[in-house]
Amino acid sequence: MDTSYAIPSERFARCISSSKRVRWAIETDVIRGRRFARASKFLPDGFTLVRRLDFLSPEERIYFSQVQGRTYANMFGLVERFIGAKVLELSRDHWLGDQVVLEALVRFCDEELKHQALFRRVEALTADVMPPGYSFAWDPNEVATLVLSKSSWAVLALTLHIELFTQSHYREGIREDANLSELYRDIFLFHWREECQHAIMDELEWRRLDAGISAAARNLAVDELIQLVGAVDTIVQAQASTDAEYFARTCGRELSKAETGMVQQTMLEAYRFQYILSGARHPHFASTLASLTTDAQLGRIHDALSGLSPMQALAA
Ligand SMILES: [Fe+2]
Ligand SMILES: [Fe+2]
Repeated sequence: MDTSYAIPSERFARCISSSKRVRWAIETDVIRGRRFARASKFLPDGFTLVRRLDFLSPEERIYFSQVQGRTYANMFGLVERFIGAKVLELSRDHWLGDQVVLEALVRFCDEELKHQALFRRVEALTADVMPPGYSFAWDPNEVATLVLSKSSWAVLALTLHIELFTQSHYREGIREDANLSELYRDIFLFHWREECQHAIMDELEWRRLDAGISAAARNLAVDELIQLVGAVDTIVQAQASTDAEYFARTCGRELSKAETGMVQQTMLEAYRFQYILSGARHPHFASTLASLTTDAQLGRIHDALSGLSPMQALAA
């Protein structure tokens, strides 16, 4: 246990100034009176894995990305419930301490509340242009209750992973794809601008907590992180199956049994890539995790992840 940990107050101060500089409002900056169109993609092909489905027409490919993109926005709304609550809880450690850290964390919570409102707005906008029958039935409070029953070390590890993949998805995919809906791209541009600060603070708070726990507690927390990844995978599996069924039912023609099976499998692999593996493979996440764990603990995490994909999970 390292009791000599000094809070890097200046890094939180930089998060505050960035947060003030990029701050945006949902309607006047992001939505600006726009609506979604059926004619444009939401997510890049590299994320949706749609190229595997060569039996789909160009219009069906766009629709496939819209179904996944609708879920993508809803997934953020879902995880931001527990992220905001955890950050608010952690802020308690700073109430009568470093007021710069407190301000940075309060802004973080405020932004996650706004992001949840943004993603509820996105759901309503997508519902306007997509056929009825879509379902994203997860209760954010139930999911948050489960996640928050684990140690803060495990929750912060999961959170850093999410907030880093949000950024890499935007930078390496959404920003670069000229064929995406402009409104959809803007939503993730504005979201990304505020998420950059969040990931910095996740890591700083994770390191602060890590410095204050015993080796035995950390070892338990590694198991909890593995359980949390398993919980995310349970959600991913169920939502992939729900979305594949919705797609098959509403794509405008009857798919064969084999085609429906391929849609199911592609959706599952795409979601595992989007919500688990792309974050686990994120170089900064991988190096931070490696710096806080032993080889044996990292090996346990690798083993859990390798069960999710035929690809090597944490390989850079
Ligand atoms: Fe967010
Ligand atoms: Fe965030």
